[in-house]
Amino acid sequence: MNPLRELRIDLEAYRRNVRTIRERVAPAKVLAVVKANAYGHGAVPIARAAVEAGADWLGVVTLEEALELRAAGITAPVVAWQFDPACDFHAAAWNHIDVGLSYAAQLVAAAEAGVQWVHLAIDTGLSRNGSSPEQWEEFLTTAARLQQEGRLRVRGVFSHLSNTSWEDDREQLHQFDAALARAAELGIHPEVRHIAATQVAVDHPEARYDMVRLGIGGYGVSPDDRSSAELGLTPVMRVSGRVIHVKRVPADTGVSYGFLYRTPRETTLALVPFGYADGVPRSVTNRAEVLLNGHRYRIAGRVAMDQFLVDVGDDPVQIGDEVVLFGDPARGEPSAAEWAEAAGTIAYEIVTRMGGRCERVYR
Ligand SMILES: Cc1ncc(COP(=O)(O)O)c(C=O)c1O
Repeated sequence: MNPLRELRIDLEAYRRNVRTIRERVAPAKVLAVVKANAYGHGAVPIARAAVEAGADWLGVVTLEEALELRAAGITAPVVAWQFDPACDFHAAAWNHIDVGLSYAAQLVAAAEAGVQWVHLAIDTGLSRNGSSPEQWEEFLTTAARLQQEGRLRVRGVFSHLSNTSWEDDREQLHQFDAALARAAELGIHPEVRHIAATQVAVDHPEARYDMVRLGIGGYGVSPDDRSSAELGLTPVMRVSGRVIHVKRVPADTGVSYGFLYRTPRETTLALVPFGYADGVPRSVTNRAEVLLNGHRYRIAGRVAMDQFLVDVGDDPVQIGDEVVLFGDPARGEPSAAEWAEAAGTIAYEIVTRMGGRCERVYR
């Protein structure tokens, strides 16, 4: 029998998605973004699948995430791009991890620790990490000096887009070009210039430069209002469980905390063992739908820490029946995008937050 709370991860679908995007963006390289436990899908199996599917690079946020990949024996190039201000970069040096750095003092600290390869983070308008235009000169001249001294090599220059509109993103590309031009004047000629994530990579060839960073698209989730299928992608995560209790109740029965749902008539309630401890947002209370015995039912009443209920009317349902929270709409299952809509968030958050007591099963 399937686990009580299952996150089924379809590695073949992930590989297919990576190949699809890879063909689309070629000759640009692909960096598979596997941060945050591969958006909730499991960092090591997804990273392996990415490499099998031809991803050239792997990208993570923290040094710890990069070290997890190395500890698992993954030897592909890995870049991490967010660090503790007091970061000791020795572990990056010893494990051949590239570091994406934002300011001059970080470059010096990395060089002192013996880091071989850095990617210069350029803030082209998002206002997050990366050196802002006022800081470029110091940042780029420090990088150029350290490179001339043979203390490190600038392997990449990168930035990240706001996805506000294509016009805004294009303005960021102009800024990126300006930073690259200044870097070139200082003798910095990176092997990989990268700025585009899934959405822009798919739609705008001019944003691909040498490499694109593929996050959400690899997981088969659309970055925008288009469906996964429209983008030729297959959802990788399927979340399902089993009914743990069934009861017949009279009309006007209060359901779950606060009685936010009252049965409109005599009906059957099915108890599903997923709660916010497992990553189900409390905000899908009375909103998201699940698939049970071939029918869609809406969650009835408050999502609790460990469970929620569905009102199945007079339909037959038994303890042990499978309930699919979300998966592939091509199979009639709700999509992560539908759950995001119900929760008032984005599908990125829906897949990434799933976990808790769920068992990840790889196919
Ligand atoms: C710096 C950076 N690059 C790339 C990505 C991947 O973006 P996406 O998941 O939209 O492909 C992210 C994700 O948030 C990111 O923070």
